[in-house]
Amino acid sequence: MLELRGVTYRYAGYARPVLHDVDLALRDGEIVGLVGANEAGKSTVCLVASGLAPASIGGQLGGDVVIDGERTTSLPVHELAQRVVIGFQNPSTQRSGVAATVFEEVALGPMNLGLPVAETLARTRRALATLRIEDLADRDPARLSGGQGQLVAIAGLLAMGPRHIVLDEPTAQLDPEGSNLVAAALRDLARTGAALLIVEHKADLLDGICDRVAVVDAGRIVLDGPTTAVLGDERLAGWGVEPPSRVRLARSLAARGLPGLAELGWTA
Ligand SMILES: Nc1ncnc2c1ncn2[C@@H]1O[C@H](COP(=O)(O)OP(=O)(O)OP(=O)(O)O)[C@@H](O)[C@H]1O
Ligand SMILES: [Mg+2]
Repeated sequence: MLELRGVTYRYAGYARPVLHDVDLALRDGEIVGLVGANEAGKSTVCLVASGLAPASIGGQLGGDVVIDGERTTSLPVHELAQRVVIGFQNPSTQRSGVAATVFEEVALGPMNLGLPVAETLARTRRALATLRIEDLADRDPARLSGGQGQLVAIAGLLAMGPRHIVLDEPTAQLDPEGSNLVAAALRDLARTGAALLIVEHKADLLDGICDRVAVVDAGRIVLDGPTTAVLGDERLAGWGVEPPSRVRLARSLAARGLPGLAELGWTA
């Protein structure tokens, strides 16, 4: 369980908070999507939920971030890193810069957790196989395409076997096939009891994997509920979020006076 309770956050050196009174609860095994316009505060929610803010980047936190019953501010950074991991939109910020091959890069996470070598190797192979990037194992991690780099970064997070995971636009550089592989891997991870928070502009992807979706606008959560209800909310466009294609299709049918999808017996 990962919880933000009445969270307010101000970046170091800035007078105004970016997040205001944010309440967000991610139960074990739950995938929660976070949507909103550019600059709404989504990445900042990720930084706070993972404990990076304020522990690593400073700033002023109000309210509480609670992971499995403990406040993040009372956990040492190494302990925090074992409970929640964060993935960034740009994989190059995630890359260690010390690994000579993709295999080593993915193995660094579990190795740093102090796991036995055999376990580290097994997890690394499994993560590469899950995302179908075994063929990249011997490549230089600094010389990959954007999409390959993103899959490698996510493999590195999966290999750590995180208790909870926070992902900021994990599929931004991925084609549909890569996005589907990541979606399937996240569903598997949730089945292990992890709580997942995913910032994503692709509403269709969220529609397929999230239990709940929350909308952030100007640093506040303005809507939080079951995926179908939130992604079908009429106000979504006003918050800078495009509804999934399922919703757009239903609306254009209705606008033409045609029967709704449900009436046609199609509920996907
Ligand atoms: N390191 C920082 N220092 C100061 N202000 C920041 C910092 N990072 C972000 N901000 C500000 O915080 C606000 C929220 O930004 P944030 O990056 O959380 O938005 P976002 O919803 O992730 O946007 P996007 O969709 O563009 O990624 C913005 O006004 C932004 O300018
Ligand atoms: Mg962002």
